[in-house]
Amino acid sequence: MKKEFGRRSDGVMAYQYTIQNESLTAVLSDHGATLLKLFVPDAAGNVADVVLGYDSVEQYEADRDTYVGALVGRVANRIAKGRFSLDGKEYALAVNNGPNHLHGGVEGFDRKVCRAAVSNDALFFYFVSPDGEEGYPGTLRCCVQYRLDEDNALHIRYRAETDAPTPVNLTNHSYFNLGGEAMAHTLQIFADAITENDETSIPTGAMLPVAGTAFDFTEAKAIGRDIGAQEQQLKFGNGYDHNFILRGEGMREAAVLRSAESGIAMAVETDCPGMQVYTANFFGDREGKGGAPYSNRCAVALETQSFPDALHHENFPSVVLRPGEVYESETVYRFFTEDV
Ligand code: BGC
Repeated sequence: MKKEFGRRSDGVMAYQYTIQNESLTAVLSDHGATLLKLFVPDAAGNVADVVLGYDSVEQYEADRDTYVGALVGRVANRIAKGRFSLDGKEYALAVNNGPNHLHGGVEGFDRKVCRAAVSNDALFFYFVSPDGEEGYPGTLRCCVQYRLDEDNALHIRYRAETDAPTPVNLTNHSYFNLGGEAMAHTLQIFADAITENDETSIPTGAMLPVAGTAFDFTEAKAIGRDIGAQEQQLKFGNGYDHNFILRGEGMREAAVLRSAESGIAMAVETDCPGMQVYTANFFGDREGKGGAPYSNRCAVALETQSFPDALHHENFPSVVLRPGEVYESETVYRFFTEDV
């Protein structure tokens, strides 16, 4: 189902699309390939929208901080000082987050107008990022597919090809609240270490074991339980805003988020090496969908990704895509309910 979402400030009409199966309904926009709504059944059989968002395209355009629901790229997360060299050439990108480059720059993929194609339970968004856009080299052709499966899951698949070497790291920036207080949700993360950050949230290159720290989510615990711990890493992020190094490789379970209030649980599966856990520490007070009051820590983003600032760390998996190669990545959000 397709309908008008609203006219963007550049005059382009943004559309919203609904894909649906017996259990799930996802509403998406071609503005930033954004996930606007995701309805899932709760333990009582009612339907709940589990992602944050806004009612209008104007609100999405006006928000330059949260990336709520959007596709993020060309390189999600931070690049130190907005500079990198690739094959001996220097590149300068927008510095839009303190001293660093964040989430693709000033006009990132979260603001792209995509071409959409619907097929049964799947929706495809296509767009081209021209050579030099936001300072990145190479023309990048991208496709993001959102698909619902019969096992209560939303699949997001990314595909990109380039005509010149360029870094690529795509993610979706949905903030989840499965019901009630987000900080009371329990979270389990299949990760034994995080990449250590400096005070500007740039990795130092060190990998910090989570054992014995507030970052130990190897057993499920309430997200808020240790968020106030006197640990330097938490102080740098004003809470959790860190890349967890996921165990194993290939498609595997990365995390499970649960709300005891609604009985909704969500498993995250991905083939990415890392996942940024961001507890909306700087969300601020704002009005969301249907007048919902949003504030700091009202939801959690689980952003599957390559490691932040990988271009500056030889020991991190590479984010460089070369002509002839295909960037492919998939993340699945799988829902189930538990008795409350
Ligand atoms: C980053 C945060 C940032 C947020 C919203 C997250 O992915 O890690 O530092 O504040 O996105 O922009």
